Parts: sequence; structure tokens; C-alpha cells
Amino acid sequence: MKTQSIYQDTLKFAAGKHAENNQTIPGTNLPYVVHLSNVAMEILIASQETEQFGIEFAIQVALLHDTLEDTNTTFEELTETFSLEVANAVSALTKRNDIPKAEKMKDSLKRIKELSKEVGAVKLADRITNLQSPPSHWSFEKRLEYQKEAIQILEELKGANTYLENRLKAKIDEYSRYCVPEV
Ligand code: NI
Repeated sequence: MKTQSIYQDTLKFAAGKHAENNQTIPGTNLPYVVHLSNVAMEILIASQETEQFGIEFAIQVALLHDTLEDTNTTFEELTETFSLEVANAVSALTKRNDIPKAEKMKDSLKRIKELSKEVGAVKLADRITNLQSPPSHWSFEKRLEYQKEAIQILEELKGANTYLENRLKAKIDEYSRYCVPEV
């Protein structure tokens, strides 16, 4: 199947799942599929800058990366509809609910690092996409925490994808403008 067809089929599946909850991007009225297609766009452009990049797998993981965390999609469903490799990748990108909040990101990053570099690339692309102007109700502490977490992602995923690492580095720097105490 052509990459374009894989993109369309996967986008349709993921968009439908997130639409069942009427999920929007936090702080906006935009449907969640906007976030998913932005992550896939980062992956597509990064693939042009990366040798030996499994674009079809990475596109699927990018579009599906929040289905286990935010929708009623199951691991078995991802395995049957896509592949076990895709289901394992989405699972690694999903925070576990049975561990303390402070350990959730570190645990997810550890599981991501055990898989192929494309999975790390999707995590980088996800945070690049999310480092836009924060929702207005976020406190100074929350913004600072979000930037700190982005630095943790960048450090832990070192070597996953040079192009996206550089993009994330620049986004983290830009985000500093939101990390000032309110006066
Ligand atoms: Ni996401």
C-alpha cells in the first residue's frame, strides 16, 4: 500500500476514535485530529532528513499515538487493525496509570527507548507540536514544569532523530518566553 493510503486509512481510524469523546486540543475548540496530523507532518518532514527511516510505520504510530491513552481503543484492536509492532509502539507512548504521576514520563521514555528509533521520533514530534503558546489558565509553575519535561524528553531520547532533536531544542528555547512569573 502507498504511504498516502496508509496515512488516510490511519487518520480516519484515529480521528474517529478521538471524535467519539469529542476530544479537543486543550485550551482550544479545535478537534484533536489537528494535533495528530501536526505530529504526522513533523514525522513526514523529518523522514526526508533521516536515512533509513521507516516512514509507513512511523506515520501510523504518529497518528495513533494517543488512542490508547485517550480513547476506548484496545491493544488487541491496534494489533488486528494495524500490527503488533504498531500496538507495542503506541503502548510505549502511553503513560501507565498504576504508577505515581512523577514517574510516568520517565517510565514511558524507558519503554520508548527499548523500541525502534521511529518511536522516539514520534515522541519528539509530539512535544514539538505541543510546545505552542500554553492554555491561558496554566500557571507559571505549570509552564515551567512543562518546559522541564520537554528537556527531559530531549535528554532521554538523545540519538533518536537528530533533525527532530534540533527542532525540539529550538522550541524549548522559544517556550522560555512563557516561563516568566506573571506580574
Ligand atoms: Ni500527543
